[in-house]
Amino acid sequence: MVKCSDLSIWAELQEQAHRVKHVSLDSLFEQDPDRATRWTIKLNGLESDFSRNHISDETLALLLRLAKERDVEGLRDQMVSGTKINNTENRAVLHTALRTAKDDPVYVDGQDVMPAIRSLHQKLAKFVADVREERWLGATGQPIRNVVNIGIGGSDLGPRLVVSALREQATGPQVHFVANVDAADLMGLLPKLDPATTLFVIVSKTFTTQETLLNARSAREWLVGALGEEAVAQHFVSVSTNRDAVESFGIHAENMFAMWDWVGGRYSLWSAVGVGIALSVGFAGFQKLLAGAALMDEHFCTAPLDRNIPVLAALIGVWYRNFWGTSALAILPYSERLRDMPRYLQQLDMESNGKSVTRDGEPIDYQTGPIVFGECGSVGQHSFHQWLHQGSSFVPADFIGVRQDDMHRPEHHAVLLAHMQAQVEALMSGRQDPDPARTNPGNKPTSVYWLETLDPYTLGVLLALYEHKVFVQGVIWGINSFDQFGVELGKKLANERLKREKASTPS
Ligand code: F6P
Repeated sequence: MVKCSDLSIWAELQEQAHRVKHVSLDSLFEQDPDRATRWTIKLNGLESDFSRNHISDETLALLLRLAKERDVEGLRDQMVSGTKINNTENRAVLHTALRTAKDDPVYVDGQDVMPAIRSLHQKLAKFVADVREERWLGATGQPIRNVVNIGIGGSDLGPRLVVSALREQATGPQVHFVANVDAADLMGLLPKLDPATTLFVIVSKTFTTQETLLNARSAREWLVGALGEEAVAQHFVSVSTNRDAVESFGIHAENMFAMWDWVGGRYSLWSAVGVGIALSVGFAGFQKLLAGAALMDEHFCTAPLDRNIPVLAALIGVWYRNFWGTSALAILPYSERLRDMPRYLQQLDMESNGKSVTRDGEPIDYQTGPIVFGECGSVGQHSFHQWLHQGSSFVPADFIGVRQDDMHRPEHHAVLLAHMQAQVEALMSGRQDPDPARTNPGNKPTSVYWLETLDPYTLGVLLALYEHKVFVQGVIWGINSFDQFGVELGKKLANERLKREKASTPS
């Protein structure tokens, strides 16, 4: 496969970067009074403002040529139609099928996946309604008040983010998350719960993840200790592709929600992995989340590339990573309820694009996915923003704000947003001072995403935007964004150590 760095457009972009690096962001605004409007794209409740980036029409034209030459549109169409673009695992990549409202068939190995998705939705909707409306009772006949999602990585981060983001709209049982195999995680929670009113959802695509299985076994012991072995059926359900392993754990097949190998873990919150979300905000709320994501899918698949939000976000990221030498991306949600965004995006971006070989295994000689880090505004301002403003690294930042707040504390919201906008302004325009220690150099780029309100729909739009952004970058870099073989070695070594330790322990 031709490497992106071998294309002549790559060299042209290098020259362009050389030419424009001295141009300040302020001067881009001075030259074009319409810049803020021209570089902002609105899509049902999401406003994406790219104006404070080091990007001109000329640079964009070059980046769009790069996207065309890498066949972003072709790969995108292959992805949504079920082609096995996850070539190293020979799998389709169909998280978009999970959220479409269309009934058009989507084939994998000659089989339409849509009927299975629709029947999963029916099963999920019934289960969620049964729990929330107190028809699903625990072993002692009491309704479920607490749900514990036990899973890790993609079986935790997405649902955890969404449940937390929508917590003001929660109407169901309280949903908790346990991921860490450190017993402090599970044992920090269990004493606060009543086994009689607690439901465990064991979420593991493979049902082989050691951390999840150990947490699940300990949770089971706790429950069985209180309510007896027969209680497991009413207090444990699971989400997995691995029916045999789920059954041998002791969870009835009818209490298992299906998953498929064409849903990647970090792209799975739209599947039954999102059952915690549906339990919290209701199945209708979950469907709104899917509808928001479907809107972004539609936009991604149909908007011209120069007005395509995920494509622009991706190209701007490539521009900085490969032509400005940045190694990081800051994610700064100015919303306490979006506090888990940086962690979620760490997995989405870094597990997807933390690769150093092309799709056909050739080593690459250019940078791929950046370090993703971040913190909630305004908390981050009092820790690492100093580094953003005056540090020696060039670090672009994504700011995420919510215009209308439903916390009924207008003063808090006004202060929060004032700080967000002030940060964006300070990063861009800086401040000159006779004292170099007090000088803010400015000229630091930001992309600003505004949600009109924080609700299931707008959240779906936002999360799908990031998924597609990561995808486009993977296509440009010629890597497979959908495998994660790098994490396997550590798992294997840990297992070997445990086996050795077990063998050497006298019984
Ligand atoms: O960390 C590797 C990984 O495979 C992630 O990609 C995945 O989200 C996580 O482990 C959990 O996997 P599972 O859902 O199979 O337990």
